[in-house]
Amino acid sequence: MSHYALETGHAGVHAMGGLVLERIARFVDGLAERPADNVVSTSATASLVQSFLAPPPESGRDLMTLLGCLDDAVDCAVETAGPGFLTAVPGGGLYSSALGEFYARATNRYGSLAVAAPALAALEESVVQWMAREVCGLPEGSGGLLTSGGSMANFTAVVAARQDGLGDDIGDGTIYTTRYTHHSVAKAARLAGIKLGNVRMVPCDEDLKMDPAAAAAMIHADRVAGLRPFLIVGSAGTTDTGTVDPLNALADLAEREQMWFHVDGAYGGFFRLTDRGRQTLAGLERADSVTLDPHKTLFLPFGTGALVVRDPATLRAAHSGSGSYLQDVSSYDGLPDYADMGLELSHEVRGLRIWLPLHLHGVAAFREALDEKLDLARQVHEHLTALPALEVPLRPDLSTVVFRVRPHDTTEAAAEAADQATRRLLDGVNASRRVLLHSTMLDGRLTIRVCVVSYRTHKDHIDKLLELIASEARRLGPASRTDG
Ligand SMILES: Cc1ncc(COP(=O)(O)O)c(C=O)c1O
Repeated sequence: MSHYALETGHAGVHAMGGLVLERIARFVDGLAERPADNVVSTSATASLVQSFLAPPPESGRDLMTLLGCLDDAVDCAVETAGPGFLTAVPGGGLYSSALGEFYARATNRYGSLAVAAPALAALEESVVQWMAREVCGLPEGSGGLLTSGGSMANFTAVVAARQDGLGDDIGDGTIYTTRYTHHSVAKAARLAGIKLGNVRMVPCDEDLKMDPAAAAAMIHADRVAGLRPFLIVGSAGTTDTGTVDPLNALADLAEREQMWFHVDGAYGGFFRLTDRGRQTLAGLERADSVTLDPHKTLFLPFGTGALVVRDPATLRAAHSGSGSYLQDVSSYDGLPDYADMGLELSHEVRGLRIWLPLHLHGVAAFREALDEKLDLARQVHEHLTALPALEVPLRPDLSTVVFRVRPHDTTEAAAEAADQATRRLLDGVNASRRVLLHSTMLDGRLTIRVCVVSYRTHKDHIDKLLELIASEARRLGPASRTDG
């Protein structure tokens, strides 16, 4: 016998919701003290994981017991919500967004066809319009849709660009990216039927930005070879280093070549809310499409991306479809049907999880938080640059700083020793379990990334991080020597 019926009345909503809320309140209170990485490889972890692989029971269990199990599962995790999570591109996850999401889930409205819930469709469209017009600076008439994340947004953009540029004959289409373009673009190309061999990697300059002249030369060579260049992808903040490609020059090139210009702003797009970001991202407003990832730089919980486009008709041309089971459904004047603009028919109402935080906190709160991240990255850059044991190869465009141990001389052996020392430094910093950093490869060298994105990361956390790095660098001492 189940303790809880499928149908839940007023008292049940309160009783069950109250138990969950109390645990979330405790979780949020304890966040600052939680270890940055709590996935410890022990037999207890293995049996916890095993326990969650069990199938559901025939009779229901007690909610308190289940929540206790969930607490264990949540504890056994990388602390992606905490201030020390400085890897990947972390957002933190706003509680107000989770609340909007809870509301949306509990009321379960249908978000694919505007006629099914027109005011909620309008709410979602207001968020899309804000992103297209205010955040990205696209002109009146632009639009887009909310997606599950940046990968889905990039995929939707590639499909729209392919349809617009190539029609049905896609075999000879070519795309221009760099080695630092997020891999979801190449994946999107493959899923969209573009041969991987036709995804060009344009060389970068010494700041790791796409070289527009090299792109122009490749496009020319491809045209001469009978291929059909149709898409240039610029990054507004690469995942590796937060580097912004020369967006204006790429927009010029795309215009000259009559190609689609997509900007992957999954990481950096929202920095356009700040004055500094607007300058760094100049040219983004000239894109045909822009990927944004609210679950990164708008601090939302995982699961929300966005694609905004200059001309929403291009999305419809690539994605609209129908079936006779939809024959009784009409459209709602003045509102888009998101089912016609992307892959999903059952498109969940994603707007509420963005609309509620934006209206509750106001846009200024987000602008200030993003400005703070730019300040913190500048602090990290200045501090690390002053440490003689380290080299900091790039000035940050946004909120990611990369560094590594300086090799003792220019030999291969010194570079290898420095890489090993960088690995030890990374392991040493992460062993503190106060912060979590990850590495990448730049110029064939192991390089550590500090990616400051979470709204919960403030100056005191960054001060502690810098102390940790400095003390690990001191501890390494001569370890970066080739003879060390
Ligand atoms: C620049 C960039 N593009 C795309 C993505 C993919 O986004 P998602 O993980 O939301 O699918 C990421 C993720 O880190 C990214 O940094």
